Amino acid sequence: MQKHDLQEILSPVGQGHLLRFWDELNQTQQQNLASQIAAQDWPKIVSWVRQALGNEQLPIPFSQLQPAPYLPLQPSNAAEKKLYADARERGRQLLSAGVVAAFTVAGGQGTRLGFDGPKGTYAFTPLRQASLFQFFAESIARYQEKYQALFPWYIMTSPANDLPTRQFFEQHAFFGLEPENVCFLQQGTLPAFDFQGKALLAGKDCLALSANGHGGSFAALHDSGALQDMQQRGVKYLSYWQVDNPLVTLFDPLFLGLHEITASEMSSRALIKRDYQEKLGHFCLLDGKTMVVEYSDMPLQLLQQTDSGQRLRFRAGSPAIHILSCDFIRRLTTGRSDFQPHRADKKVPCIAADGSVVTPAAANAIKLEFFLFDAITLAQKPLILAADREEQFAPIKNAAGEDSPQSCRDALLSRSLRWLQQSGVPVPCQQDGTAPVKLEISPRLAVEPSDLAPHAQRLSALRPDSELILE
Ligand code: UTP
Repeated sequence: MQKHDLQEILSPVGQGHLLRFWDELNQTQQQNLASQIAAQDWPKIVSWVRQALGNEQLPIPFSQLQPAPYLPLQPSNAAEKKLYADARERGRQLLSAGVVAAFTVAGGQGTRLGFDGPKGTYAFTPLRQASLFQFFAESIARYQEKYQALFPWYIMTSPANDLPTRQFFEQHAFFGLEPENVCFLQQGTLPAFDFQGKALLAGKDCLALSANGHGGSFAALHDSGALQDMQQRGVKYLSYWQVDNPLVTLFDPLFLGLHEITASEMSSRALIKRDYQEKLGHFCLLDGKTMVVEYSDMPLQLLQQTDSGQRLRFRAGSPAIHILSCDFIRRLTTGRSDFQPHRADKKVPCIAADGSVVTPAAANAIKLEFFLFDAITLAQKPLILAADREEQFAPIKNAAGEDSPQSCRDALLSRSLRWLQQSGVPVPCQQDGTAPVKLEISPRLAVEPSDLAPHAQRLSALRPDSELILE
């Protein structure tokens, strides 16, 4: 592509400055910049940026917002009991039939954790130092054994962490999974813009690009050919989770069965918020449509509102655990225009008009990110099922404190002790009568308490050392 072709793309949308250094670039650099520019849909992106900068994104009419209904964790009446029993049975059939695949989004930067590498490679378990990817791979292997079926695993990476992610799996021989059943797909990128709506250059020959958010998964599943691959494999449903929540139940027959029986296109687990300040998106209803409203967008008055039972009115929060129907993803990806990105103000290193390098101390740019949960509004019959926090949710977001590696390990230990008790395995106690504080159960052995029962005899012979690894 020649300079003037690029000018024709950029000038009408006010982005001609991106060619400022063109004449200084060698041919390879020119090609690099040209291909990055040609890959973007500038009119669409610039209109999103204008909306974001002008706060023109549609305001939510909060007075009309209602809490979205959700199904309880335990059935509360006879009809629900029957529905849940049927759903569990159907879910088991679906799992045995091999029509379910795993989908993990792992393209994030993990800025808050401050770990230098793909977050999935982060070693978090207390004794084996297993990484998040290893933990999920072991779980998948266990589920495959349990259901005598294959669960292909699709992992979304970003251009920034794709190679190290693939290398990590290769170095670890895919943790025992068949390499052909672990499929990587890269999400797309979007350019960052300054607060005047001008796209930033990361170098004279490259745009300041960053991953387009977890909602970029839909386009990535389509564009990478993963959707087609799923069709060839007979996959109908995706079990979706984020790479930083190792406690997630990878394949829950109840959740899957409910998804299918109710003909939902996108189903979600809901955490009942601990208190109004817990920073989770809220499942809401607006004009009969289900949507997730971000914590930061909810007015304080609504956050604090209680119902007649003195419970938070907007109490169903999203831990980002979903079932997605492949047909729904196909439908979405043939008409992408309804999907709007969100604005995030970030520090983005870039180069100034004089070519000098800018390392900002404060946010200098807006990034646009698609959010996966925005698809719920577009789904037919979206279903919401309460989740068990202690069993299913302990994300690793921060380096310390809440939602950190340590809080995740604490939750894992409590769950392990609970599982041993529930499965009738006596918890080997230390000399002072307390449960071992250094205990780790590999998901290769158990993904639910009943998996431990067959090993009760062997496990009850265990003596509490300083370290107790059950694998
Ligand atoms: P977060 O919103 O927690 O972002 O992502 P993050 O990048 O991991 O962490 P911070 O905010 O920089 O500290 C939630 C999930 O969505 C994935 C992440 O990998 C994580 O599993 N994600 C996020 C993507 O796959 N792509 C993105 O562009 C953003």
